[in-house]
Amino acid sequence: MANIILRPGWQIKESRATSLSAYLNRRAFVKAMGLGSIGLSTMSLGCSQQARSATDPDGPLDTIPDDAPREGYPAPRNPAYEVPERVITDRLVTSSYNNFYEFINQGDLKRVWPHTEQYNPFPGTLTVGGLAEKQTLDIADLIRSVDLEERLYRFRCVEAWSITVPWTGFPLAKLIERCKPRNNARFVKFICVNRPEELPGQKHAHWYPWPYFEGLRMDEALNELAFVATGLYGEPLPKQNGSPLRLVLPWKYGYKGPKAVVRIEFARRQPATFWNELQPREYGFLSNVNPNIPHPRWSQASERFLSTEGVEERMPTMMFNGYDEWVQELYPDAPRSYAGPIIR
Ligand code: MTE
Repeated sequence: MANIILRPGWQIKESRATSLSAYLNRRAFVKAMGLGSIGLSTMSLGCSQQARSATDPDGPLDTIPDDAPREGYPAPRNPAYEVPERVITDRLVTSSYNNFYEFINQGDLKRVWPHTEQYNPFPGTLTVGGLAEKQTLDIADLIRSVDLEERLYRFRCVEAWSITVPWTGFPLAKLIERCKPRNNARFVKFICVNRPEELPGQKHAHWYPWPYFEGLRMDEALNELAFVATGLYGEPLPKQNGSPLRLVLPWKYGYKGPKAVVRIEFARRQPATFWNELQPREYGFLSNVNPNIPHPRWSQASERFLSTEGVEERMPTMMFNGYDEWVQELYPDAPRSYAGPIIR
């Protein structure tokens, strides 16, 4: 992506390597000792020496909004979506190694969670517009009104790192049904939160065309894999993972999954998308995971799979990220052998 800084490896100091249980035990210990957030922060994730305000979250798991709906968690796992060849990525990795430019656009771009304090996703609304029934849905009510399920999906970033995540949520097709699109709607556009006062990256990075926006063809949006995530690891989404709602499209690169979605529009014409508008020669509209289409600046033939902090493994990239049987009919022209530098 245009301004995403690529790092040579998953660089983490020994002092930052900690398991979720070690982290939680440490938190319990610190709380029992009556130590405040400063004491805790000196002990967690190696972020100790920086000056931080008293209101900063203590760690990447402290950023679940207090008023996020909790009913239905943990949701039953849907056995149709397995990832047999990989372990589940440690929750701390998933919530501490992020891309979310609304929060941060300089320094360690992946360390998003310390910048989330001012953001209050609840209460929030999702508006529906364009070629559909115009509506405003309260997001908490929406989440409470659906049957939540858990799906284990591979997640592949265009930067060639990957994780395996148990998402909680519901099929995008259910949301689209509720929006009542007209028959002539062929595309759907997703628009993300626009609150510069709560989002430091959005406030300061004027060179981005805020708010973040993405789009899908209707047949893609209605594919059974397309998922609206409201949570992960059996709890509501932490802010840095896209609270209150995000899309998860496991056969596409991660940037096709907008986080903190607040508006949906249906259209007859293909919508513009955030990264495509910034770098059309690097980020196409489809952006399906395909080892045969290199990014103009790096190969997509393999990826760094992240499991626990400090641990990564080089793995071959799978066609459509391992979801070939679900989506191959959508893309009859997808190259199945090395195709050279093309953008799709
Ligand atoms: N959505 C918004 N609103 N803003 C963003 O910066 N980044 C995208 C995508 N959705 C992004 C976004 C990119 S590049 C990726 S890889 C994924 O979110 C990262 O999701 P994660 O941080 O939960 O792993």
